Amino acid sequence: MKILSVASELYPLIKTGGLADVAGALPLALAGLGCETRTLIPGYPAVMKTVKAPKKLMEFPDLLGEHATLLHAKHQGLDLLILDSPPLYQRSGGPYLDGSARDYADNWKRFAVLAKAGAEIAAGALAHWEPDLVHVHDWQAALVPVFMRYADAPEKPSLITIHNIAFQGQFSAAIFPSLGLPAHAYGEALEYYGTISYLKGGIVTAHAVSTVSPSYAEEILTPEFGMGLDGLISSRTADLFGIVNGIDIDVWNPETDKLLASNYGAGSLKKRAANRAALTKRFELDEDDQPIFCVISRLTWQKGMDLLAEIMDDVVATGAKLVILGSGDSALETALLTGADRHRGRVGMSIAYDEALSHLMQAGSDVILVPSRFEPCGLTQLYALRYGCIPLVARTGGLADTVIDANGAALAAGAATGLQFQPVTAEQLRRAIRRTLRLFNDRKTWTRMQKQGMKSDVSWTRSAAAYVDLYQRLAQKGQ
Ligand code: ADP
Ligand code: GLC
Repeated sequence: MKILSVASELYPLIKTGGLADVAGALPLALAGLGCETRTLIPGYPAVMKTVKAPKKLMEFPDLLGEHATLLHAKHQGLDLLILDSPPLYQRSGGPYLDGSARDYADNWKRFAVLAKAGAEIAAGALAHWEPDLVHVHDWQAALVPVFMRYADAPEKPSLITIHNIAFQGQFSAAIFPSLGLPAHAYGEALEYYGTISYLKGGIVTAHAVSTVSPSYAEEILTPEFGMGLDGLISSRTADLFGIVNGIDIDVWNPETDKLLASNYGAGSLKKRAANRAALTKRFELDEDDQPIFCVISRLTWQKGMDLLAEIMDDVVATGAKLVILGSGDSALETALLTGADRHRGRVGMSIAYDEALSHLMQAGSDVILVPSRFEPCGLTQLYALRYGCIPLVARTGGLADTVIDANGAALAAGAATGLQFQPVTAEQLRRAIRRTLRLFNDRKTWTRMQKQGMKSDVSWTRSAAAYVDLYQRLAQKGQ
């Protein structure tokens, strides 16, 4: 089966979050299951600089008034279709934000053009490669099924995956005429309280909707988590699926990871000590046997980072240490940095995006804290499980689905892999940390939990098979 995947991020070329990891790892997992995936991405500077010898496939002289060239390249097992349009994508900032962290004013156009190209490829624009199914990710690609619905060509089956319903791609209704869609598409697919919502358009027009964990698929049916789209999602429950993310277990393998000070496995946990020592040095922490908690996260309200700032003094008061790697809201960066300055030797912080350091932190810390208010899937807890770093997570979304709480029954059965808490408040987080410390001091139980976590199947194996099932179902329905 030939799949066209459309995404605005793709590991290892361009990444701001978990979407990139998923868009990058899923095609590799699907390849072993008879699916040939090509991924359409914008020709950002990072992409154009990194890929070797891209081959020109065709020109799009007029994608919503823009000129673009479609390039083909292979990169680390990925089959790429790169939409090269320098005025749209060759920018000095990130994929969505300029150097001052402001959205590019023409994001509506940048991603509408990407989607239009996707729809044209779906309709057979490429002479030698026509997809059987189109799989699009998040609002940036959500217009692909919209353009497909209103095109002249026969409609291919399509799936939209929602990685985070909080980001919807909402723009002024004034852009509608520039999208080149028939007038009725506005009311049928795109209109959202007098504005345009790309994600809504994708949810309305895609043949199926999936999200990245079964729990989040349930949660987005509720007003609390649905972010205004719960009514619409509820009208599509027959076509709604929750498939939990996996991780690339070759990139994230403590036995071979070159970014670590020392490799180790479940049978050689003692070798984690060298990573702990490297981490201690890197963050200039005191050398002692107290547990090290880590946080690797976007610093946002979603991720509960305000709570982390609130309880930092309490964590330090327990004797534990804390290392934080992240960037995001400037107010949160300042609050956390101020706290870290107050506790030199006990709290270390790096405001950065540092892939290499994130590996060392998973290998050298005892616990990863993920106090998210909502979390569609979450990947850092999955890396942590694989690295013998115990996840302490909020009981929400994919966190609830992937970590087995160390309650009495799970401990007795030897099934526990981490800790969960709810509701997501500072008080519950403090309690959960105290519970973690009690477990940490019971070395036998702790080691058992680490080993149990390292045995968890966090690979793509099962989930890739679930996607193939879904693809096949959609393809059959379309016949
Ligand atoms: P989200 O996509 O909502 O940010 P995920 O947990 O799905 O959350 O994915 C986040 C990804 O980004 C993980 O791969 C994580 O390791 C990585 N990450 C987040 N912040 C940083 C950072 N400051 N440095 C390096 N990697 C980071
Ligand atoms: C989003 C979600 C995160 C998920 C990731 C990959 O960024 O916030 O929970 O893991 O997408 O699906």
